[in-house]
Amino acid sequence: MTDSFEARWLGDAIGAEITGFDLTARHAPEDYAAIRRVLAERGVIFFRGQDVKPADHAHFAQQFGEATVGKYVDTVPGFPLMTEVSKAEDQVDNIGGGWHADQTFHAEPPWGTILVARELPRHGGDTLFASMAAAFDALSDGMKDTLRGLRAVHGNARLLAASKRLNKNISPAPELVHPVVIRHPVTGRESLFVNAAYTLRFEGWTERESAPLLDFLYVHGQRPEFQCRIVWEPGMVVFWDNIQVWHYASNDYQGQRRIMHRIAIKGEPLIAA
Ligand code: SIN
Repeated sequence: MTDSFEARWLGDAIGAEITGFDLTARHAPEDYAAIRRVLAERGVIFFRGQDVKPADHAHFAQQFGEATVGKYVDTVPGFPLMTEVSKAEDQVDNIGGGWHADQTFHAEPPWGTILVARELPRHGGDTLFASMAAAFDALSDGMKDTLRGLRAVHGNARLLAASKRLNKNISPAPELVHPVVIRHPVTGRESLFVNAAYTLRFEGWTERESAPLLDFLYVHGQRPEFQCRIVWEPGMVVFWDNIQVWHYASNDYQGQRRIMHRIAIKGEPLIAA
């Protein structure tokens, strides 16, 4: 017996608000499976008015797999697999202030992320999302065929440069290769799998040769019709599908504090298209 939650779309390409689902309650496995299907179809979903404690956040995340945490992040006391994503009043740069997918320099990047608002600025601090499935669909057949034949090298070299500004001491990760087009494990839909933060070049191409095509894809992927924007409010929880969306944390609240709790869910081997 499934709960009768509803999903209201934010736009054609991406995003849905889920109503009628209390994240502090315990639900049947088929209810979580239904949430997983909506997430796979919409790329990002959000819930309003949730009074989730860290234990509720952790319990909800556990229904979707094992949590994974990066090496250089601050975790929430008592919850070693929950990250605190924060920006203090005197900090200028934020975490995630550029279009990216999380940790694609790992062989199996996290497939999902659940972010809970803990302290919000008076204005700003929205998070934008873009569907890489919609971005891929909108390309010509010729471009799709070219991209299906490519793989790309990912690494954390750009994160290393940014880490100095964020006062984090990050070590270089070995470079690795992912398909440029992947197939989603739940929907079977094809999706672009490159991002400006971690994709360094196409396999077998130089960075200079790769840049024009990657830049084209980065501009194309940011088209407003592939995007939705989450305007945070207290009690909001956002869940995104990291292998088929990019996200961008807007850094437009200087002098104010923003604190979020994040749980990332362990990924599986990516499926090439
Ligand atoms: C991130 O995971 O990139 C941060 C997202 C956010 O803080 O809105």
